[in-house]
Amino acid sequence: MNYSIALTPGDGIGPEVSSKAVDVLDLIGDKFGHIFNFVELEAGGCAIDSTGEPLPASTLEAALQCDALLLGAVGGPKWETLPGNLRPERALLGLRAGLGVFANLRPAALLPQLKDACPLKDDVLTASHPEGKANFDLLIVRELTGGIYFGERGRDGDGRSPESSAFDTERYSRAEIERVLRVAYDAASKRRGKICLVDKANVLESSRFWREITMETAAEYKDIETSYMYVDNCAMQLIRAPGQFDVIVTSNIFGDILSDEASVLSGSIGMLASASIGAKSAVKKYPAGMYEPIHGSAPDIAGKDLANPLAAILSAAMMLRYSFSLEKEALAIESAVNKTLDSGLRTKDIASRAKNTANEKIVGTNEMAAAVIKALENG
Ligand code: IPM
Ligand code: MG
Repeated sequence: MNYSIALTPGDGIGPEVSSKAVDVLDLIGDKFGHIFNFVELEAGGCAIDSTGEPLPASTLEAALQCDALLLGAVGGPKWETLPGNLRPERALLGLRAGLGVFANLRPAALLPQLKDACPLKDDVLTASHPEGKANFDLLIVRELTGGIYFGERGRDGDGRSPESSAFDTERYSRAEIERVLRVAYDAASKRRGKICLVDKANVLESSRFWREITMETAAEYKDIETSYMYVDNCAMQLIRAPGQFDVIVTSNIFGDILSDEASVLSGSIGMLASASIGAKSAVKKYPAGMYEPIHGSAPDIAGKDLANPLAAILSAAMMLRYSFSLEKEALAIESAVNKTLDSGLRTKDIASRAKNTANEKIVGTNEMAAAVIKALENG
């Protein structure tokens, strides 16, 4: 099969990590008889430099023609002083909205090889794990194209007077809530069958609406155990007892915050991939899909062969699974990553906190990616 993939390497470490994901996909193509055609596009700071806009219309148009989008990372100090609507981050928001990828899947699990990179003590992990293991494996399903990120915003007054004000609005329609809940429930039915709605229903009307609709949806999914948790409590439970969670479903802003928190537990944000998916349209073969590492552009380590390429590589695996239903191929990538970690290779961010690192070898981006490729070739 032929697949067309829009590639927006972006800024900072984005190009170096996404190019490794491309290498891995090329090899998967050779091994399994697929052709991946990459269409390289500009988005983020690099697009600002060349066109003056973070998301040129031509980028979005071309991305909409492709079967899926792979993004590196966007942003950097160079563009930080620009006004909000011209910052590189606008490219991310514009791509999410433009592609209609309303459900963001952010898995966070503790791989046994990275146990020492997790800041939680063993007894904290075991206490909350259903089988008493020092482990956790959760999936955050974050609503991605609604809520306060996209709601009405503005300023009143001159900005100097005491009554001057600024506002952003959290507004969700029933349709927006229902569709992301479906994705979350479907994900839970393929996992351990548990879902937790995270909200602030003790204060916010929009959260109460989420709760009502979740209760209705829960009644349809009788095999799934549904629970409800306030977001402040969830922030605490994640570091107190992460093993209790299977799928967390939540709004755009709460998902943003909680997924960063969860990433620390898995050892490093440099390990975490994400998939953003939308509806299947009548005109396209595959559902809308955008894949990116959770980490940012890390300008301080860009170009130094220090970045962890695994989140980008694992994002490519998610693309194969969620956009193209190529499960075997996705598993091949994940298993190659596993073998590489088994062999003791670590980029700096996932090196053990313990002093005894005798069986670990600290490597750079290139060596890490080369090892994954080798494991794939031999696998
Ligand atoms: C993320 C990021 C983005 C977000 C920023 C860069 C706009 O933090 O993908 O989590 O807030 O969604
Ligand atoms: Mg974030």
